Amino acid sequence: MQNRMMITGAGSGLGREIALRWAREGWRLALSDVSEAGLQETLKQVRAAGGEGFVQRCDVRDYSQLTAFAQACEVKFGGIDIIVNNAGVASGGFFSELSLEDWDWQIAINLMGVVKGCKAFLPLLEQSKGKIINIASMAALMQGPAMSNYNVAKAGVVALSESLLAELAQQEIGVHVVCPSFFQTNLLDSFRGPTPAMKAQVGKLLESSPITAAEIADYIHTQVNAGQFMILPHEQGRMAWALKQKNPQALYDEMTLMADKMRAKAKQGAN
Ligand SMILES: NC(=O)c1ccc[n+]([C@@H]2O[C@H](COP(=O)([O-])OP(=O)(O)OC[C@H]3O[C@@H](n4cnc5c(N)ncnc54)[C@H](O)[C@@H]3O)[C@@H](O)[C@H]2O)c1
Repeated sequence: MQNRMMITGAGSGLGREIALRWAREGWRLALSDVSEAGLQETLKQVRAAGGEGFVQRCDVRDYSQLTAFAQACEVKFGGIDIIVNNAGVASGGFFSELSLEDWDWQIAINLMGVVKGCKAFLPLLEQSKGKIINIASMAALMQGPAMSNYNVAKAGVVALSESLLAELAQQEIGVHVVCPSFFQTNLLDSFRGPTPAMKAQVGKLLESSPITAAEIADYIHTQVNAGQFMILPHEQGRMAWALKQKNPQALYDEMTLMADKMRAKAKQGAN
């Protein structure tokens, strides 16, 4: 019986809601994050929802912390059935203004954190014939303006997931990649970027979501059980992706207009 899940970035937002969704079915959760307070709160809620588990502080930038976490899963649970590479941070700013340090920071967490999570847990997944769920973003597919470092990191997560889908099929390890549009969480707290006005714009986008993190977790649960590889929780996201596949130039034109608008707003904010 498969009932052991590990989640990175489980101390808040979507990671917490995914934990609660699976906890309601009695799963055992291995919860990690850099926020110890967030982890304690998630564990409390997991227990109230009918699940069990343990927490371990783990920064996804540090491979040795991820391998130690995998070892803890082996000792405490005897293995793992699903891993969720969810930890992530927000960033924004036009390419001309983003520093190389902004790039390194974003790639280290949102892309290499997922690569390292997959690599550290692969031996356990080979034993269990388990599943990988990588949390990317619609940014990976749409390449919205003024967030090129985030777009590239998330597109990398989609490319990694597609690569693993093919490579790990023989070992019967399932792979899923999730691409949500904006939704309300604490993601803005981690925002890093050169243009302060951009943070407020991202905040408005997060608030504008028609669906909650809990609804997204529920959608992921259904789609993973249905064997769906690419999971797009927002209806608007599914429509935009269909349009881009049919007519990419229409999307590029829309993004160009959006870039002009954002530049104007950023200028207003700066004055
Ligand atoms: N909220 C959105 O609009 C949105 C949209 C698309 C994709 N996503 C993705 O969803 C995932 C979850 O984000 P969220 O919206 O729930 O945000 P959140 O900030 O509420 O949760 C992210 C968690 O990741 C943790 N974290 C940050 N850096 C870490 C690190 N180096 N190591 C370990 N943990 C770290 C944070 O402490 C936090 O608890 C992220 O990958 C994000 O990019 C979010």
